[in-house]
Amino acid sequence: MEEELIKLQTNVSSLIIACDDSDELENIRENFLGKNGDLTEAIKRIGKLPADERPEIGKLANEIKTTVEEMLQDKKKNLSGNATNTIKVDAIKKLDITLPGAKPPLGHLHLITQALEEITSIFEHIGFARVRHPEVEWDWYAFTSLNFPENHPARDDWETFFIKEGIHPKKGQMILTPHTSSGQVREMEKGVLPIKMLNIAKCYRRQSDVSHSPMFHQFEGLVVGENISITHLKGVLDYFVKSYFGPNRISRIRPYHFQFTEPSFEIDVSCGICNGKGCKLCKAGWLELGGAGMVHPNVLKAGNIDTKKYSGFAFGWGVERVLMMKEGLSLEDLRILYSNDMRFLEQF
Ligand code: PHE
Repeated sequence: MEEELIKLQTNVSSLIIACDDSDELENIRENFLGKNGDLTEAIKRIGKLPADERPEIGKLANEIKTTVEEMLQDKKKNLSGNATNTIKVDAIKKLDITLPGAKPPLGHLHLITQALEEITSIFEHIGFARVRHPEVEWDWYAFTSLNFPENHPARDDWETFFIKEGIHPKKGQMILTPHTSSGQVREMEKGVLPIKMLNIAKCYRRQSDVSHSPMFHQFEGLVVGENISITHLKGVLDYFVKSYFGPNRISRIRPYHFQFTEPSFEIDVSCGICNGKGCKLCKAGWLELGGAGMVHPNVLKAGNIDTKKYSGFAFGWGVERVLMMKEGLSLEDLRILYSNDMRFLEQF
C-alpha cells in the first residue's frame, strides 16, 4: 500500500508540474482528490488494513494529500499569474522582469557522495592521490597476496560473495571485493615508489540487517616508502580525525590482529558528545573507527617491493560509519541510505 501511495503521488505530481491549463488542473484535482479520485479510493481501503499498519499508512496518505493540495494551489496561482502576465505584456509590449521567476526543484549530491568528496579533499591536502581499483576482483588481491593462507579461517570474517563462473589460473576465484585492502598489492604492482594512495570503493559482504548493508563504502590509505614508521601512521590519523570530526577530537591506537598488517591496530576516536569522559553513546569515552597497521612484509613481497629498503602503513575505514559518527546520526536502519527515499535524502 505504501508503494502504491507513493506511486500515486509521483504520478499526480508530474501531471501537475506539466499542466499549463486551469481546466486541466481542475480535472487533475478531481481525478485524484474528488469523490471517486484515486487517493480518496485508496484512503477508503486503509480501514481494511491490519490494525498495526493503519496509523502509519494513514499518516502517509494525509501527508500526500496535503502536499498535493499545496502543489495544486501553487500551480493555480502560477497559471493565473501567467495570464495577467500575458495581458500586461500585450498591453505595454514589454516583459515585466519584476514578476517572480519559476523555481525548478533543485537536486543535490547524495550524502555518501558528499562524504567521499570531503574525505578525498582532506587526504589530498597531505599528498594522498585518489585511485580506483577493481571492485570485481580475484581472490589473490583480496586475500592470498594479503598474507591469508588458502583456507585460513580469518578469511571467514570477510563474508565474501563469490562469482562461480570466474576462475583465474593463478589468481584464483573471482569475487566481489569485500574490502578496499585488495587495492594494496594492485597499487604496488604499478611499480612507482613512494606510494601515497587513497583508494575509495564500494565493498560487498553477505550481510543485511539494520546496521549492515550488502554494499557499502570504504576508504583505504596506503603509504610505502623509506623509513616509514608507526609515528607517521599516528600523525596521519590525528590529522584526519581533527580535520573531519573537529579540532577537539583525538585518536588512539589499540593492539589488534589483521593478517596483512604487523603490528595491527584498531583506531578509536574520542567521543564528541562527552569529550572522552564516557557516556551512553560511547565505550568509556571512545568510539571505534576501524583498522590500521604497518604493512606486513609478506604483502610487500607479494607486491615486489624490497622489504629491506621499504616499509609502510595502511588503514581502512567505512565511509558510512565515519559519516554517522560525525553527524551523530543514528539511523534506525542503515539501509535507508540506499533505498532512494526522497523524504530522507532531502534532509541532507
Ligand atoms: N581491510 C580491513 C577491514 O576491512 C581494514 C584494514 C585496512 C586493516 C588496512 C588494516 C589495514 O576490516
